[in-house]
Amino acid sequence: MSNPSLLILPGDGIGPEVMAEVRRIIDWYGAKRGLVFDVSEDLVGGCAYDAHGTPLHDDTMAKAQEVDAVLLGAVGGPKYDSLDFSLKPERGLLRLRKEMDLYANLRPAQCFDALADFSSLKTDVVAGLDIMIVRELTSGVYFGEPRGIFEEGNERVGINTQRYTESEIDRVARSAFELAMRRNRKLCSMEKANVMESGVLWREVVTEVGKDYPEVALTHMYADAGAMQLTRWPKQFDVIVTDNLFGDLLSDLAAMLTGSLGMLPSASLGAPMANGRPKALYEPVHGSAPDIAGQGKANPIACILSFAMALRYSFDQGAEADRLEKAVERVLADGLRTADLLGQEGVAPVTTAEMGSAILAALDASL
Ligand code: NAD
Ligand code: IPM
Ligand code: MN
Repeated sequence: MSNPSLLILPGDGIGPEVMAEVRRIIDWYGAKRGLVFDVSEDLVGGCAYDAHGTPLHDDTMAKAQEVDAVLLGAVGGPKYDSLDFSLKPERGLLRLRKEMDLYANLRPAQCFDALADFSSLKTDVVAGLDIMIVRELTSGVYFGEPRGIFEEGNERVGINTQRYTESEIDRVARSAFELAMRRNRKLCSMEKANVMESGVLWREVVTEVGKDYPEVALTHMYADAGAMQLTRWPKQFDVIVTDNLFGDLLSDLAAMLTGSLGMLPSASLGAPMANGRPKALYEPVHGSAPDIAGQGKANPIACILSFAMALRYSFDQGAEADRLEKAVERVLADGLRTADLLGQEGVAPVTTAEMGSAILAALDASL
């Protein structure tokens, strides 16, 4: 049998810096665990625009459709801010999500014990936190038509459309219920059914799907109240399912419960391929962090934990994913901190590469 294939798209800003640490971990699995991947690398985002005049070349898109999993760093940067919308780095990522039909975006927010003191919330609010946000990723206001900036009378109007079909809601709801079944059997669906028809439909369809999962306790919450509850007492949640835009906001918020945006991984999953595994793209929740790019300051953990999610969801290597997550936990328990995780005086931050090396050493120690 051939080796599992991985397409790596480091992207822009800190993307290549954090991905370099993931490459070392992939090599470790080949050398020490006999888990060899066929790795290819390509461009996405601003760097693809610089090379090809488009944020995602058709050849790269075709490759992404063929591999077992895609691993992405981050895209974007101030250099590209004034580009036409269709050429912006972010469009490359959105095209990957849309054309691979990656409708279920899993964004776990787990607070490692060693970081419980570090969160901006009180320690007992976040200690032991382990929730999963399932964000719909291929529809909603991100993709709805009509969209654009139009002339209307003597001024311009900017339009985006929130749009969900029943089947789009149904499939992401099923992903969330399936996850809840494997966790604590609690699912909270968030929308704004009080002001949006798409929210009314969302609530109806999720309720209907829930009839197939009688063991899961389903609740509904308006997304604004959900944001408040996430900061008040996040441990009331297990799995949250929500739309594309609310999921974007709520997952950044949840990131700060764990200490830093540099900690949060994600998996974007689509329908099963011929081999039974889902189409998949793994990426950290954070962006290209232009403010710290090129300084060796970036926290590589979100990207490393995204690879752990790939081991679990694309390669059936749950035990190896646990090993990697434990290695991260160990390093944090030992007190290693990149600059984003520093609050205490007198503790010097480690660089991106030093954090990577420490995680590799912890992996070695796990054998
Ligand atoms: P950002 O996530 O890049 O940065 C927000 C803040 O968090 C910054 O202060 C940054 O330094 C910090 N941060 C983020 N990741 C970190 C890490 N790994 N280690 C340490 N600190 C980290 O969000 P932004 O500043 O709003 O956006 C910058 C660019 O990234 C924009 O072009 C945006 O569109 C893009 N973006 C891309 C993605 C993606 O590729 N998936 C996600 C979000 C934003
Ligand atoms: C994310 C990002 C993206 C989004 C951007 C870069 C397109 O913020 O992955 O959370 O809005 O989905
Ligand atoms: Mn986001």
